Amino acid sequence: MNKKKWGSAGLGIFVLGLLVSCASRPAGLSRYDEPARELLNKMTLDEKIGQMVQADNAGLKDPTDVQTYYLGSVLSGGGSDPTAGNSMEAWTEHYEALQKQAAQTRLRIPLLYGIDAVHGHNNVLGAVIFPHNIGLGCADNPKLVKQIGQITAKEMRATGIQWTFAPCVTVPQDERWGRTYEGFSEDPELVSRLGEAYVLGLQADGLSGAESVLACAKHFVGDGGTVAGSTRNRRGWDQGDTQCDEETFRRIHLFPYQDAINAGALTIMPSYSSWNGIKCSANKYLLTDVLKGEMKFEGFLISDWDAIRQLDPDYKTAIAISINAGMDMAMEPNGYREFFTLLKELVEEGTVPMSRIDDAVFRILRVKFAMGMMDEDYVGEGNPALQAQFGSDEHRAVARQAVRESLVLLKNEKQTLPVSKTLGRIHVAGQAADNIGYQCGGWTIQWQGQSGNVTTGGTTILSAIKQSVSDQTSVTYSKDGTGANGADIGIVVVGEPPYAEGSGDNRELKLAPAELAAVNNLKASGIPVVVVLLSGRPLIINDVLDQADAFVAAWLPGTEGQGVSDLLFGDYPFTGKLSFTWPRSIDQLPINKGDGKENPLFPFGFGLTK
Ligand code: BGC
Ligand code: BGC
Repeated sequence: MNKKKWGSAGLGIFVLGLLVSCASRPAGLSRYDEPARELLNKMTLDEKIGQMVQADNAGLKDPTDVQTYYLGSVLSGGGSDPTAGNSMEAWTEHYEALQKQAAQTRLRIPLLYGIDAVHGHNNVLGAVIFPHNIGLGCADNPKLVKQIGQITAKEMRATGIQWTFAPCVTVPQDERWGRTYEGFSEDPELVSRLGEAYVLGLQADGLSGAESVLACAKHFVGDGGTVAGSTRNRRGWDQGDTQCDEETFRRIHLFPYQDAINAGALTIMPSYSSWNGIKCSANKYLLTDVLKGEMKFEGFLISDWDAIRQLDPDYKTAIAISINAGMDMAMEPNGYREFFTLLKELVEEGTVPMSRIDDAVFRILRVKFAMGMMDEDYVGEGNPALQAQFGSDEHRAVARQAVRESLVLLKNEKQTLPVSKTLGRIHVAGQAADNIGYQCGGWTIQWQGQSGNVTTGGTTILSAIKQSVSDQTSVTYSKDGTGANGADIGIVVVGEPPYAEGSGDNRELKLAPAELAAVNNLKASGIPVVVVLLSGRPLIINDVLDQADAFVAAWLPGTEGQGVSDLLFGDYPFTGKLSFTWPRSIDQLPINKGDGKENPLFPFGFGLTK
């Protein structure tokens, strides 16, 4: 399909494009129609409703609820670890125990276990953590993104888990939004290209393959376009309202979904956010007419965390609205029992038609059949061969490559970079230089991430620098940037503290005073200064940039800090290009490629090579 045409000619071409694309789609799910229909016909109403319910691990009142409520799915939200701990082994045992519960139900339909493996299998200790999507957008290497998806799937299947709420194909338009880093780019075409590659990677082994997981494109749709002050508390951006006409909405926000679907994404998560005042999770036009009708999405929709509750003050009414709009599975982390009871009442009263329930369950079952979960010999277990590769050097090497390709060089005066490996002394500064938590950002072990080196294993930028230099070079370090006198060069790493979702909404996009002080102190010693920024988005950095002889945007690179030192010392060239326009001031926001706004600090696509 010719994507460029969508933008310029709007609706008509969009529909035409869809027709063309449908013809070239990979083999659909229809070959599982028969077994899915047959199974559906055997099910009681309770069993059907159970398939539509997803509880959270921490919210699960009793593991036997999997049987009592015939649960179709369980998830682990951020930080919702097994009670036995957070090791690969604990996750595997936990997963297997729940599948055993499902195996004891009358129809023995296995559970789909869902998790936010959004930059690696990031809830599990020792998993390799890849750069967050914003960095991958700057690398713009679909082959590499596919490989990342593949490795993520392998590390997930090591523990048995076979469904990730990824890729996020949001198209963030305003960096003040706390989820900007979950997006590859402000440019729909770049998002689409990498979203497609990600899905292909996660499902590379075929849907029923032992090394594949089910992908989930999110958050449908327009999560990245919310306007300032449109949230419930009127302060932030997250879960707010995207206000634009349909042509714009389709061109910017809907755009990446068709490629994700064509690549085989069989689950999609409707967004908390609204479009012109209507919550996406309640929007029948978007969920049923556009997505399932026009775009021929054959998979199923999974609601976001407690999102259904936001649709109406009366929970029962909210459930009716969402299911009737086309929601197929409900993420009801804690309230799943109540959801079950209320949805059953709604069906018995005729408010939710039986045909809607049958459609939802049919869609869920078809996916389970396609994944091989209904096969006689299906085992809901971890995979020892993949466990042997969990967090392996081989996986880390790919993450390190991703870090290298994602870094963007914004300034390099007097050939400050690359740094020689044989200097007498290098002074490293900034608490973020020695901080795995800052490198990884949110959605790492904890939902919000966490500062410090206890987060998980990995290589800090400080230790990567120490490993890179020659024996005669001394590397000194101070958090506050003092004590650099006499060094040949200073490298200061500054950054944003980890955050996820709404807690990352930020009106100022400024570095904290202690971070700025580290730069100032280092500069005061009179040596050349290299600044490395760890952030989930472009920040307002004019002062720091002025002080820097060289400036590198490193985004949230993950556990493999050597990817940063590889470039600082010139082992590899800088190739990353900005996938977002870098604003000069807060008043410029939102500022995006092609919007006609002038004079950004750096334009979209900027990136020095030396
Ligand atoms: C987020 C989703 C995530 C879900 C499950 C929600 O709060 O918006 O991105 O997949 O939680 O953890
Ligand atoms: C969960 C996250 C979820 C969030 C939604 C947290 O408690 O751990 O997964 O996205 O709540 O608000």
